[in-house]
Amino acid sequence: MAKIALLHGPNLNLLGTREIQIYGSLTLADIDRRVVAAAADHEVRPLQSNHEGVLIDAIHAARTWADGLLINPGAFTHSSYALRDAIAGVQLPTVEVHLSNIHAREPFRHLSLLAPVCVGQICGFGWRSYLLGLQALLDHLQERRP
Ligand code: DQA
Repeated sequence: MAKIALLHGPNLNLLGTREIQIYGSLTLADIDRRVVAAAADHEVRPLQSNHEGVLIDAIHAARTWADGLLINPGAFTHSSYALRDAIAGVQLPTVEVHLSNIHAREPFRHLSLLAPVCVGQICGFGWRSYLLGLQALLDHLQERRP
């Protein structure tokens, strides 16, 4: 059984009302429920924060209990060297997910500062990006086990 920290960055608490044409109509609680259900016997602990430092502390704390990180960093994707360093520092396999296809949007969203320190990135599939990301992370963890 794997333990996964599910982290959501700024403004994702507004899902369900925020730019529905881009992000869909599910709330963050809906998405968390679907990820937890899809994880079956694996443990998923969700956390959302609008604060960079809270997310960094959660990444550091995950070192003591989690096997991997599934993260939608929101706009911190494009701006946060500190989140990138936190992920690199804890050395937990991390999958970056986005609801929208960041590469098809405004130019400032095309660059992810975090992607180079992640196992991979999944974007553009709406809330299903999280399920695809979870599956990719679990498969990666499984393959790493002897
Ligand atoms: C997002 C994409 C980011 O560019 C944006 O700032 C978000 C949401 C997504 O899930 O599509 O807040 O991470």
